[in-house]
Amino acid sequence: MRDDVLVGLDIGTTKICVLIAKTEKERDFELIGIGIDPSEGLNKGVITDIEKASRVVRKALNKAEFDAGLKVRQSWVSIAGDHIQAQDSHGLVKIEKGDRIITVKDVEKVLEDASHLVLSPDREIIHVLPQEFLVDEQSRVKKPIGISAATLGVRAHIITAASTCRQNIENGVLQAGYECEGMVLQSLASAMATLFPEEEDLGVALLDIGGGTTDLAIFLREGMRYTTVLGVGGNHITNDIAVGFHTTRAKAEDIKVRYGSASLSCLDTDEKIEVERVAGRETYIASGEELVEVIQPRVEEMFELVDRELKKSGYKDLITAGVVLTGGCSLLRGIKEVSEKKLGLPTRIGYTRIKEPKEFTSPIYATAVGLILYGIKKREESVSKDKLGVRIKEWLKEFF
Ligand SMILES: Nc1ncnc2c1ncn2[C@@H]1O[C@H](COP(=O)(O)OP(=O)(O)OP(=O)(O)O)[C@@H](O)[C@H]1O
Ligand SMILES: [Mg+2]
Repeated sequence: MRDDVLVGLDIGTTKICVLIAKTEKERDFELIGIGIDPSEGLNKGVITDIEKASRVVRKALNKAEFDAGLKVRQSWVSIAGDHIQAQDSHGLVKIEKGDRIITVKDVEKVLEDASHLVLSPDREIIHVLPQEFLVDEQSRVKKPIGISAATLGVRAHIITAASTCRQNIENGVLQAGYECEGMVLQSLASAMATLFPEEEDLGVALLDIGGGTTDLAIFLREGMRYTTVLGVGGNHITNDIAVGFHTTRAKAEDIKVRYGSASLSCLDTDEKIEVERVAGRETYIASGEELVEVIQPRVEEMFELVDRELKKSGYKDLITAGVVLTGGCSLLRGIKEVSEKKLGLPTRIGYTRIKEPKEFTSPIYATAVGLILYGIKKREESVSKDKLGVRIKEWLKEFF
């Protein structure tokens, strides 16, 4: 596989999305291949049928390869699901006597120290995300390398996953005939594609609302502070419509996307909505208002769950930059209004910060675009580390 080619593989509950990018100078990239297929064998972000999932992964990768006109071998893959957990940790090391200048090796050691957690045997670390370094008495240091000190400390946010879920993703990709270059938490990838550095510094809550999961990640002073995955998403809204109007899920999905709104003030249809019902019942003519009556309570309930998490995190009063909604469900009319009402925080929709092609600015592609950005960052870091002649474990590379 060519050095200037990167692949993002977003394994979502509703769609598998592959992007192939050609990197250019200074973190710029061009999307040269795209492959999307409806997911199979997934539930709430987790692979439940490896055969089916790997078949769709292969199909999507093949489509993207055909589109790009080249073969690929490895990809950056997303991981999500409510098995994801996070906890804060800290590490401390003494700097060797001599000139006492902090080196890459010291940073490596302090991160290793922070990652010595008592984990149950069925869990693994997927990210060690430094929040800030402490150099002697001085806290909130972002780049400690080169500073002279007696001790180096770190506060880090550690993301763990159920080993079986992580393994199933890796095996699914392998069975499809490809390899994982690395695994990336869905909300971390989506954040890279949609958030501005100023927001991450001021304090922001990112919510990736997909089909099966809602992923929350809170950033403050440019570090991830809190993350959790809730097992609710757009599919629940679709189900409510299907049950409420006695129709199929496919029809309910179509109605939701075409006419649905989470608040009356954002309803932009006065059309009569034809709903074909199941089991030979006659077609029902629904109004937009009736649809809002079904959608709104579910969306409000989703934001009540989010609000509970924000309060539990202890960061609710610190997220000055407010909330950014991304993922497919953020396209639902009126969702921003419900977020502002229920959370009491300013909210915007997180489109991806890419220039071309325009359709890939949609929040649906936030994770896939973020995987490409993450991959570019990691490759740059490993190039600079090779120059330093240092090799460390994959998950220790997070902070550079
Ligand atoms: N225009 C729209 N209006 C309302 N909902 C939409 C719209 N477009 C997509 N959705 C909803 O977004 C959801 C899919 O979002 P997304 O593609 O981000 O999910 P996913 O990544 O496959 O799932 P997850 O991240 O939960 O594993 C579906 O429930 C779909 O109905
Ligand atoms: Mg998703």
